[in-house]
Amino acid sequence: MSIAFSAETSSFTLRVRSSVYVIEARADGRLVHVGSAPASGGWTPTSLSQYPDADYIWEPGGPRYELPTFGDVAHSDVALKASFPGATGDLAPGEANHVPVRDLRLRYVSHEIRTDAAPALSAKHQQLPRESSTQRQTLVIHLRDIGYDFHVRLFYRVTPEYDVIERWTEIENRTNGEVKIESLAFGAVHFPIGDYDLTHAAGSWAREFIPTTRPIAQGVTMLAQQGLNTGHSVNPFYLVHERGQATEHAGNVYFGALAYSGNWSLRFEQLPTRATHVIGGYEQTDFELILAPGATHTTPAFVHGVADDGLGGASRRLHAFARDYILPGFTDDQLRPVLYNSWEATYFDVSADGQIKLARAAAEIGVELFCMDDGWFGARRNDRAGLGDWVVSPDQFPQGLKPLIDEVLRLGMRFGLWVEPEMVNPDSDLYRAHPDWILHFPGRPRTERRNQMILDFGRADVVDFIYRALDTLVRENDITFFKWDMNRYSTEPGSSAGVGIWRKHVEGVYDIMDRLRTAHPRLDIQSCSGGGGRIDLGILQRCDQAWTSDNTDAIDRVWIEDGYSLAYPLRAMECWVTHEHNHQTNRRLSLDLRFDVAMRGTLGIGTNIDRLTDDEKASYSRKISFYKRIRSVVQNGDLHRLANVRDGNVSVWQVVSADRRQCVYSAVVVDQRQGQHTPMYRLRSLLPDTVYRVTDEHNKELLRVPGGQLMSLGVPGDARSAGLGRSMRSRTLWIEAV
Ligand code: GLA
Repeated sequence: MSIAFSAETSSFTLRVRSSVYVIEARADGRLVHVGSAPASGGWTPTSLSQYPDADYIWEPGGPRYELPTFGDVAHSDVALKASFPGATGDLAPGEANHVPVRDLRLRYVSHEIRTDAAPALSAKHQQLPRESSTQRQTLVIHLRDIGYDFHVRLFYRVTPEYDVIERWTEIENRTNGEVKIESLAFGAVHFPIGDYDLTHAAGSWAREFIPTTRPIAQGVTMLAQQGLNTGHSVNPFYLVHERGQATEHAGNVYFGALAYSGNWSLRFEQLPTRATHVIGGYEQTDFELILAPGATHTTPAFVHGVADDGLGGASRRLHAFARDYILPGFTDDQLRPVLYNSWEATYFDVSADGQIKLARAAAEIGVELFCMDDGWFGARRNDRAGLGDWVVSPDQFPQGLKPLIDEVLRLGMRFGLWVEPEMVNPDSDLYRAHPDWILHFPGRPRTERRNQMILDFGRADVVDFIYRALDTLVRENDITFFKWDMNRYSTEPGSSAGVGIWRKHVEGVYDIMDRLRTAHPRLDIQSCSGGGGRIDLGILQRCDQAWTSDNTDAIDRVWIEDGYSLAYPLRAMECWVTHEHNHQTNRRLSLDLRFDVAMRGTLGIGTNIDRLTDDEKASYSRKISFYKRIRSVVQNGDLHRLANVRDGNVSVWQVVSADRRQCVYSAVVVDQRQGQHTPMYRLRSLLPDTVYRVTDEHNKELLRVPGGQLMSLGVPGDARSAGLGRSMRSRTLWIEAV
């Protein structure tokens, strides 16, 4: 059993494949963390009973609460702060009951261990994970305040084979008065005593997901986003490792991620004793939740675990869990389709004829899903008008979308549309009809970004209006894909929902997506937010793939891909091959390099394909067929980062199938100086005695050797030249057991 309770020590032991996590209810009812350890260490934390200071709350070395609350701790960060309108306890003589009580002390009441009746895998998954025998259990620990009838339930859902524990918190007000919640996390995770480094992603628009490592110094180190999307500058996941003790392939790595898409924080704190923890949940600035009598609030989840095989091991665990438990599953077949997107080909200049031309060219080269980007609706001829009016523009499409969609379907592709449902241009029918539907503070300046304002999802009628608009589009047209965009920073968050807007907005987005997917089971959604501004485990529960960045320059993308891959699965990483002369960076890059980098995730094409020469078309077709040959491994296999671009300007990925008989090798040499040798990398995780055949996109055999040989020598390092000297070269190889 993955969850065990010992009545003797009043402790809970949560076991997953490679680690153990122990919690104890102390004699006075405090629920504290005993320890977590990689199973490979051979030791298991058991009890705190021998530690003299374990209950001494004023020492930083004192209790490490599973959910530290304001009231029970005074010297460190807290996960929950509540304010009660008046006292319940006995008042001292002459003491007036005039101040709200901001003191919450939770004590253990009871617990239960639930076993999931059916595996929670999406019914749409045909290709089940490696071992589908996983038995998931959930521990629910019930806590109550020492005086107030205020209850907290901590959930721990354990998926042993995936090494993952999902945590969330439920708070319930059974008092007669309103309780004001001023801070609320989804959970807190304590690391073994030590000094740690934090690896995470940092960046900005067009430069998302840059891998970064920094120390968790004494005090608080915070990653946070104040906004209505997940954010471009930091992303809600972490890989934490003891200083100097972990590499890409070895060492213990404590990983975690929040399943939430806006206004989040991960606060890491190291105390003077070297006790270190992270508290993850709603960002505290501008946070408040009023819990009415009888009301309950359930937080989103905080996913965490421990890898004993380095940063790569942590990434592989997060990927596998997201692939098999988080992502919605497949609609049509087992693989993500090759997509065409018209944005960089036409920008706003869309028309039925033009799109049909592109669709024909797309079908010819092997595209399976055709998505028309911005510009098809209302008065949207540029980014200054029309946003919010989700009706097909009669000027561009006098006969509606039908002729285009019919042609796309006839060509054997699926059809998709770009939408940006949370926004309006002031120059739109929607804004003219409902100027009061946008976020703003009355009488104060309203700023626009890309000429747009944000709809007030604090209003149920606005959320419902947008749902109905999108639902109508899908009902009236054969649309099976939305690219759902969100293109601005969040300012002036004035809403009818008050400070609750931060949560209401995210809940509104989730609600519309969930309802659409339920009403239209064949609909897939791509998450986009000015590129990679909305990628997290919460949105990936509802979106099949995500647009990682507006920057499609293959060299810049290598950095973005390395950082993205720290946490998120390749199947969800949408990558386009765009023009030779890149529109964002002005750099010229070869077709080989552009394809090699885009084939690392779900392949898309974004060039003006109706203008390709016959030779170019043939190259596109050949490369797309090659991708189709390797994509089941790219999209469902296990990633090994053999070289990280940040360590030496070379990025080498190897993705291996579950049975280890097939693998994809993808190398990009970003920069190589005269006199520097082209490096070779040993492959990993192959069957040593099995003979493998190494081929390129022309199916030309380059090598035929046992796995052991590839794992000791690697493959020849002569990456193709892009005609740019020794730099910017790449190669993708298919390696299969014979
Ligand atoms: C955002 C997206 C782009 C494109 C444009 C359309 O910038 O990230 O891919 O869809 O919007 O306006």
